[in-house]
Amino acid sequence: MTSLTASHAADLVAALLFILSLAGLSQHRTSRAGVVYGIAGMALALVATVVVAAQSITAGAVALILLAMALGAMTGLWRARRVEMTQMPELIAVLHSFVGLAAVLVGWNSYLEVESHGTAQTRIGADLLGIHHAEVFIGIFIGAVTFTGSIVAFLKLSARIKSRPLMLPGKNALNIGALAAFVVLTVWFTISPNLPLTIAVTVLALALGWHLVASIGGGDMPVVVSMLNSYSGWAAAAAGFLLDNNLLIVTGALVGSSGAYLSYIMCKAMNRSFLSVIMGGFGIAAPSGHEEDHGEHREVRAAQAAEMLAQARSVIITPGYGMAVAQAQQPVAELTRQLRERGVAVRFGVHPVAGRLPGHMNVLLAEAKVSYDIVLEMDEINDDFADTSVVLVIGANDTVNPAATEDPGSPIAGMPVLRVWEAEQVIVFKRSMASGYAGVQNPLFFRENSSMLFGDAKQSVEEILHELSANNRRDAVPAARQATVVSH
Ligand code: TAP
Repeated sequence: MTSLTASHAADLVAALLFILSLAGLSQHRTSRAGVVYGIAGMALALVATVVVAAQSITAGAVALILLAMALGAMTGLWRARRVEMTQMPELIAVLHSFVGLAAVLVGWNSYLEVESHGTAQTRIGADLLGIHHAEVFIGIFIGAVTFTGSIVAFLKLSARIKSRPLMLPGKNALNIGALAAFVVLTVWFTISPNLPLTIAVTVLALALGWHLVASIGGGDMPVVVSMLNSYSGWAAAAAGFLLDNNLLIVTGALVGSSGAYLSYIMCKAMNRSFLSVIMGGFGIAAPSGHEEDHGEHREVRAAQAAEMLAQARSVIITPGYGMAVAQAQQPVAELTRQLRERGVAVRFGVHPVAGRLPGHMNVLLAEAKVSYDIVLEMDEINDDFADTSVVLVIGANDTVNPAATEDPGSPIAGMPVLRVWEAEQVIVFKRSMASGYAGVQNPLFFRENSSMLFGDAKQSVEEILHELSANNRRDAVPAARQATVVSH
């Protein structure tokens, strides 16, 4: 078998491993196996690529590739060990920007190679030159949009810039104009390729990527991250065409289509138009900026909260990003255990975009060993709030905001939310009256049946646990005395 056919076989096996990896990652139970398949596929692909490349390049160039791989692997390991769960989306956004940048560099390299050597020293036949030019342009365009879009997503997710949408006048016309200009430039470049056009498309796409993501508000960021994931896949596939690398084409298409599908599912969960989000918030009106006066809020202390819980028949806990920040999942699991021992029915209601990445809350609750059967999805539990004694909103905000259903002018209008306000009592655990990720005030905090329990969520839950055990001891003392009397 020649090394080329061996490398084709390796490509095929790696592609199958990537498909198995995606299938494995779709479920909790099989996710570890999914990660292992992915690692195996990537290792095989890297070895096959280096072995094939080594036959046509100098030893020095191979050494450079190995050095780059070692540096990349070390940086990746270092970041992966240090990154907090809450920072995952930021890290993913940065990684997408690398894929975008790589696609831009591959596109430029491909253009300059043909410009300086002609087609003679490349694999491209003269009859396919037009297609090659179109590939160069499409690769640079998708890569550059992904690059700057991912950087803006990173800056927004890490709160280095404001998450509010940028509202330039005529923003939709700007986006559509940029797309039309890209089509015209591509046709022009295919007929007469030249450097100024390559520079023009790069600058145009960098600006478009920046504007598209800057125009999207914080509440839609999860969709943006998975959409950029999709773009980075298409950018890799475009690079695969330019490098004549089938595995890169297949992998890019897998990432591109799975990212697009995930974005679509998220849009459905948040009642957002998929097209509107990928078009940089097309058709979404600017927030009014007008802050309504919601009146006074009430406060409770841990002792009162413990009293309310001890009296409750049923409790639903709706966790959010703040539970992850406070790392409150262990005490929350302990509180659940203690309340259930007292005969209180406790369940969790998890919103599809609670936290900062899909499945964030489920991972934390699984880590704290909360049984799966009491962790319910929003649609499964939303009708039960009306029949619930106490809801504990632990570090959640946007995902329990009634404005989403009641105020058509709200930036999160139409997003399905957990209807916690229908319960008899709601206790909101947070540190201040600050707004959530989408930057909008939450009228829930001012409802008659809501009380704020201010402080770090972990500390507050621990205080409640302390109060509950103090109550237990108080209850136990008279019983012990009674027992003593009986025994006499
Ligand atoms: P958020 O709306 O982000 O609100 C979290 C709340 O937690 C804040 O209001 C904050 O209030 C509180 N908090 C922070 N640290 C705390 C601590 N140590 N102790 C107690 N409270 C603390 O949370 P959510 O309801 O989970 O909504 C998620 C938001 O993130 C949505 O807008 C969603 O679109 C967006 N998002 C989601 C994802 C995915 S895929 N899940 C990805 C990116 C963005 P204080 O500062 O007053 O304490």
